[in-house]
Amino acid sequence: MHGRAQEPAAQNEELNEFLARQEEKTFLRFLTCGSVDDGKSTLIGRLLYDTKLILEDQLATLESDSRKYGTAGADIDFALLVDGLEAEREQGITIDVAYRFFATDSRKFIVADTPGHEQYTRNMATGASTADLAIVLVDARQGILTQTRRHTFIASLLGIRHVVLAVNKIDLVDFDQAVFDRLVEEYRSFAAEMNFATLTPIPMSAKLGDNVTMRSPKTVWHQGPTLLEYLEAVQVDDDLMAKPFRLPVQYVNRPNADFRGFCGTIASGAIAEGDEIVVARSGRRTKVKRIVTADGDLPRAEAGRAVTILLADEVDASRGDMLVAAAARPEVADQFAANIVWFDEHALVPGRSYLLRTETDQVPASITDIRHRVDVNSFAHEAARTLEINEVGLCHLSTQAPIVFDAYAENRATGAFVLVDRMTNRTVGTGTIEHALRRASNIHWQDLDIDRAARAAAKHQAPHVLWFTGLSGSGKSTIANLLEKKLHASGRHTYLLDGDNVRHGLNRDLGFTEADRVENIRRVSEVARLMTDAGLIVLVSFISPFRAERRMAREMMAESEFVEIFVDTPFEECARRDPKGLYAKALKGKIKNFTGVDSPYEEPENAEIHLHTTGRAPEELVEEIAAWLDGRSR
Ligand code: ADX
Repeated sequence: MHGRAQEPAAQNEELNEFLARQEEKTFLRFLTCGSVDDGKSTLIGRLLYDTKLILEDQLATLESDSRKYGTAGADIDFALLVDGLEAEREQGITIDVAYRFFATDSRKFIVADTPGHEQYTRNMATGASTADLAIVLVDARQGILTQTRRHTFIASLLGIRHVVLAVNKIDLVDFDQAVFDRLVEEYRSFAAEMNFATLTPIPMSAKLGDNVTMRSPKTVWHQGPTLLEYLEAVQVDDDLMAKPFRLPVQYVNRPNADFRGFCGTIASGAIAEGDEIVVARSGRRTKVKRIVTADGDLPRAEAGRAVTILLADEVDASRGDMLVAAAARPEVADQFAANIVWFDEHALVPGRSYLLRTETDQVPASITDIRHRVDVNSFAHEAARTLEINEVGLCHLSTQAPIVFDAYAENRATGAFVLVDRMTNRTVGTGTIEHALRRASNIHWQDLDIDRAARAAAKHQAPHVLWFTGLSGSGKSTIANLLEKKLHASGRHTYLLDGDNVRHGLNRDLGFTEADRVENIRRVSEVARLMTDAGLIVLVSFISPFRAERRMAREMMAESEFVEIFVDTPFEECARRDPKGLYAKALKGKIKNFTGVDSPYEEPENAEIHLHTTGRAPEELVEEIAAWLDGRSR
């Protein structure tokens, strides 16, 4: 129909018009979820295939013509459209998910695709934070399963307001309306608590295509739309523009002394030249001088646009900070409550240091308290000490430095984060912030006149921590004790913190689970730090089996004040010595969580001092440490 007789110029115009139309179409972001075998991949494949056929009809002529006249290369249409998708991928916290793109005549779609069955909840939760709508798939034969409930709950937690209940494989129950109705009723009654704006049930067969893009003649009883009709028509309240202006600073561009631009993508709201803004962290107020973009200067820019903002005054702001509307400022806090979806096999441990990542910021953080875990079947709140894989809970978090955020309910772009394991670099959980915790906000550091330098000087020594780690019975305490005697004899002011002793007092409430050991080390690290502040040389002798916590202890101390000493005695040797008779009991299963037996010991990788103890006397090992310390102080 696009006449071949047309002149190339007219062809060009037509192509440009087509592309412009594509530009104007609204985006709908959605994801599919449900139980693993409910047909997610088939459904996405079916949608991609069917819509491509529809679009291809319209594109065939245009494409071949544009290729013929060399106006734009073969793939121009999709390449252009996929651009938006690439930008999406670059956003820090959505990288784990693959996105698929397709378009119909009236809308463009991005579907968060999650290949494979593993880590389904993980990908689902990561994709959901940017989705407008969730298709919850249910196998008509299986009905509603725990996973269906879990994903529905997570979808609502992540702010999804529209749900399609896709009752799939309806062909396998003979297109039976009664099965459909029963399932829909059950789902509605449990989803009622979740306040979705719309809930649209559709009977379908993703495999055969019934009610996906084409109305099925076999479900005449179904009054509602097909899936595609619905996806094309649903009104999602994309109100990012209506929210206060937020620009998370990605980087500061300063090519010369006259130009200082704050670069990033506007997360919400809009900004115009002359508008008053505030730098979130410092509260510094100023005005927008210029809005620079790849398309030149703009008088005004909206959410979704990448901009470089120049300000009227010289102000400080770096990556992770935010330029915000002066009249509506976000929270700046280092303690807050958030819902966390955990998806790592290794359970969440309160007290452990994770990396918390927002759109542009990252900072070490730990969970200070699990307020409750949510039972996804009953929505009951349960007490919990950890969160296992796929579990959801409300937690209190503490970050090493304040972060800038909004409550997730108010702004999905600035209220979400992910947690990353600092050892493996895996994304282990995702979170939505509820509110800042005020309790800590009125406690300030007290400036004391006698500071650590003064205290250290009075003792004529450089305070530091000698951290002994190794298996129970490896000889840590014996060596530490001898070393302390030696240091003391030479006039040093020391203190020895020993696991067995501290566990009688300060840490009397702690056992040997992973969570308790983490807390054990956290407390003793804090004490060691106070003692270095007091000017002491602190010897710490704890098994301290986990790398994460030894690293945490190291990071608490000033550079070079932390000396890790690995007392390396093989397990067999410790078990043979067995000074307290504990190995004998543990090996018989009479002591649980015993290090080296049924609880791991993670060997240091970069200890300052590595002591091989086998065949060597403690005195000799002490000399080795003393020599190392001497060498360093020289
Ligand atoms: S840590 O792992 O949390 O660092 P810590 O050094 O405080 O351990 O305490 C270890 C001491 O507790 C051991 O030397 C041993 O005497 C005693 N102990 C009792 N039960 C256990 C256990 N299950 N695992 C390891 N040590 C245990």
